[in-house]
Amino acid sequence: MPKYKIATLPGDGIGVDVMEAAKIISEKLALDAEYIHGDVGWEFWCKEGNPLPDRTLTLLKNTDCCLFGAITSKPKEEAEAELSPHLKEKGLSYRSPIVRLRQELNLRTNLRPCKAYPGNPLNYRDDIDLVVFRENTEDLYSGVEYHPVPKEVRDILDQTHPRMGRFAEVPNEDMAISLRIVTKKACENIIRDAFEYAASQNRKSVTVVEKPNVIRETSGMMVRTAREIAKEYRNVELWETNIDAMCMWLVKNPEDYGVLVTSNMFGDIVSDLCAQLVGGLGFASSGNIGDDYALFEPTHGSAPKYAGQYKVNPTAMLLATKLMLDWLGEKEMAENLEAAIASVIKDGKVRTYDMEGSSTTLEVAQEVANKF
Ligand code: NAI
Ligand code: MG
Repeated sequence: MPKYKIATLPGDGIGVDVMEAAKIISEKLALDAEYIHGDVGWEFWCKEGNPLPDRTLTLLKNTDCCLFGAITSKPKEEAEAELSPHLKEKGLSYRSPIVRLRQELNLRTNLRPCKAYPGNPLNYRDDIDLVVFRENTEDLYSGVEYHPVPKEVRDILDQTHPRMGRFAEVPNEDMAISLRIVTKKACENIIRDAFEYAASQNRKSVTVVEKPNVIRETSGMMVRTAREIAKEYRNVELWETNIDAMCMWLVKNPEDYGVLVTSNMFGDIVSDLCAQLVGGLGFASSGNIGDDYALFEPTHGSAPKYAGQYKVNPTAMLLATKLMLDWLGEKEMAENLEAAIASVIKDGKVRTYDMEGSSTTLEVAQEVANKF
């Protein structure tokens, strides 16, 4: 029996290209693991009416962790139009498999390292090394939304909230509501993860990124929780910054920051900004981490215009593999892989189009594999 069972879900578009790159690396690593393919993505939505078939969920439940490529999501009407004829008018509605996986497997922490590897011509600065901890299951992603707003919801809001008065004349169908739901437990979990990481990596600060002056209750809960938990970590300072100011500071002095912790929506936004500081989506990897399962993926999507061309940068996917090795406890292998990636970037001989090179996805992966 191999030591690990790892599910591989390439998904759509360039998810397939970069998963092939990851395969070159995993073969070279000789990790004692069995890799098992799983179906996910647009094809299965169109053919089966479910982009995340039950058999794939079962597969994940029987593996240690998952490597994920990328999926395609489309707006409601387009999704329904592409369903197979026999599935139309059955009331099926498309739900993003990655958002569903995060919620169903309770992969509550999204870890997004953004490190500038020296020699990358796309780096904003060479001294950036920060990690974003994004809460992964709640907030505006709770999926609790209304349009038109049902009368009973409207009534309860009118009765309980004085500020609803200014919407009195708005018809229910001209109003949409998306709820930002935050729980104390989720705040504690994500903030503790950020502080634990900072303490273990000798990072001097954790910055909680919210907007408590305006979004008093949900952002307020995050900040209040951060203040409580910070007391337990004497060697790590807590910094508090509003999301808007954070975007400005990240452009001005990104090197000042070590660990950022934030809620789901702000985390989504700020981590793309951070990714661009260190070379863009081709370099941004992430871990979706729960108590006993984790899924690792590049943060980019399926980039349909490059699908199947083996043109895109596999680095994000290879860094996701490195995060997986860290999580499995294979520290030495993780370090060797990261050193190999860094060395290929520094050499600058084998580069994809985004770095102004002309090498293919698989050539970059092969070059990384040749380094260890
Ligand atoms: P995208 O990330 O797929 O691509 C945007 C652009 O970024 C590409 O056109 C390309 O220029 C560049 N890019 C992305 N990955 C790259 C790489 N590895 N190397 C070099 N350049 C790269 O985002 P887009 O176009 O907004 O979305 C395409 C589809 O992907 C949509 O259906 C969207 O819903 C989905 N998506 C899925 C995600 C996931 O699977 N977690 C995340 C984001 C988007
Ligand atoms: Mg995003």
